[in-house]
Amino acid sequence: MSSEFTAGGLAFRGKVAVITGASGGIGEAIAVALAREGARLVLAGRNAERLDRVAERARDFSPGVETFAADLTDDERSHALAARAVGAFGGVDVLVHSIGYFAGGLVATAPVDDLDRLYRVNARSPYVLTQALLPSLIARQGQVVFVNSGSGFQPARAGWAAYAASKHALRALADGLRDEVHPQGVRVITVFPGRTATAMQEEVHRYEGRPYDPNRFLQSRDVAAVVVNALALPRTAEVTEVRVRPGQG
Ligand SMILES: NC(=O)c1ccc[n+]([C@@H]2O[C@H](COP(=O)([O-])OP(=O)(O)OC[C@H]3O[C@@H](n4cnc5c(N)ncnc54)[C@H](OP(=O)(O)O)[C@@H]3O)[C@@H](O)[C@H]2O)c1
Repeated sequence: MSSEFTAGGLAFRGKVAVITGASGGIGEAIAVALAREGARLVLAGRNAERLDRVAERARDFSPGVETFAADLTDDERSHALAARAVGAFGGVDVLVHSIGYFAGGLVATAPVDDLDRLYRVNARSPYVLTQALLPSLIARQGQVVFVNSGSGFQPARAGWAAYAASKHALRALADGLRDEVHPQGVRVITVFPGRTATAMQEEVHRYEGRPYDPNRFLQSRDVAAVVVNALALPRTAEVTEVRVRPGQG
């Protein structure tokens, strides 16, 4: 039996999805899951080689896959990504923000530049790309997914202040957006995964000085299953927020 998630059919046939953070981890898993449901995709991240590898996986299922390699903290590149998606496929139905960056440190000693970078990558860049794609998302009664974090709703712990601040900001941006676009039929979903076995979680373990065992954590495909299920719900329902934590295996 395949370990990949499917919503049980071609739930996204004819739909177009833009996915950031698609070069690995949770974004890659969401890309493949949406491809399996028949969506056409625009995959974004900085690493062109890894994006191409994900695109190859997605092309096994999807009728159209484009890649866009760029640093999305550059506003112009975010606008260019939006233009590429609309140009290639005529519009966008689903926007998934899985871009993310982690840096830990104590408030007493962490460089302020870390706070700025965390905010730029984790909160500001999704905001800019959402703005750029909003006309198309409204026209198509689309959906926006923000991949947040447990750090985006629970009180921050020592060493996590700046990362948590960027994720709390992302939650607020999603909440405000949801309130604005709900009347226009656009659904906005925030998913708060617990620890997930990805390159970022390895980095977190390096920071914490702990041995890394990916089997103890959520898998990227688990988070993708939650996201695609929420996206595939009938229009009479709207999932606003989902919290996911590792199961007992
Ligand atoms: N792993 C966890 O335990 C966990 C738990 C909760 C929430 N999350 C969240 O889940 C999301 C996905 O993270 P992940 O765990 O899948 O980690 P990941 O594999 O490191 O994915 C992060 C993605 O963000 C992209 N990215 C980072 N900076 C970028 C930039 N400046 N411009 C464009 N793309 C950029 C990376 O692509 P390039 O390297 O190619 O640029 C990569 O595709 C993040 O928002 C993260 O905060 C993760």
